[in-house]
Amino acid sequence: MREKIEEIKKLESAPKIIKNLYNKEEIEEFLNLYKNLPTTVHNKKQNVIKKRWLQGYNKKLEKLFCERLKKEIGDFQMDNLQDENGKDIYGLIQESYAPIGLHVDAGFEPKSQVYKQSLIPLSPVGSTVIFKNRFYEGSTNFTQDPEELKKKDLSYGQNKRSSEHLKLYGDKPFDKKIHEKYLNHENIDNLKGLEVELIYEWEVGSMLIFDRTHLHCSSSVIKGKKIGIATFTKK
Ligand SMILES: [Fe+2]
Repeated sequence: MREKIEEIKKLESAPKIIKNLYNKEEIEEFLNLYKNLPTTVHNKKQNVIKKRWLQGYNKKLEKLFCERLKKEIGDFQMDNLQDENGKDIYGLIQESYAPIGLHVDAGFEPKSQVYKQSLIPLSPVGSTVIFKNRFYEGSTNFTQDPEELKKKDLSYGQNKRSSEHLKLYGDKPFDKKIHEKYLNHENIDNLKGLEVELIYEWEVGSMLIFDRTHLHCSSSVIKGKKIGIATFTKK
């Protein structure tokens, strides 16, 4: 059970989109960083490549990122997993051809006071759906797929699987129009009780910041592949 729920709630705020935060050259540097980082996961079946933003590959970019984020959210600590050498990972860069399902990135450490997460798109087409609904346990993928729900033997940094969300937010059917337009990769019954807070249309140079307790997923709108950087903070 998570501690500090009251503290987490006190710092909650609406999701925020910051436009024109990174210029062309800076985005180019992020893409270069992505190219240079070693691949962590290449799931050929799901067609997704995941890389950890390891420290030391581009110190200038690390500094720039932290300074700009601090300007938006005030003091924070990165809430990171660690690499094999015990060094903090800055975040996760993901290149995918298929949308990511409903989940929450509320963290892996019950004692920590999770705060905001950020998303920086590095490719132009895509969108991310943030739901009003929140979840105060740890990082979880929400699904009804029995095969997924069977997965209990999780490795370091993997989300739990759960269908618990269906008991938390009521029975109201999800908006059919929004489902059709943005979320047709999700079973509409898996979205019961959820309401959309914000749909972030990706725009290169912008950044999305939102509370780590928000349920979210990518939209089904993908042209070819998309690349984005996700980072996670705590207080
Ligand atoms: Fe996420």
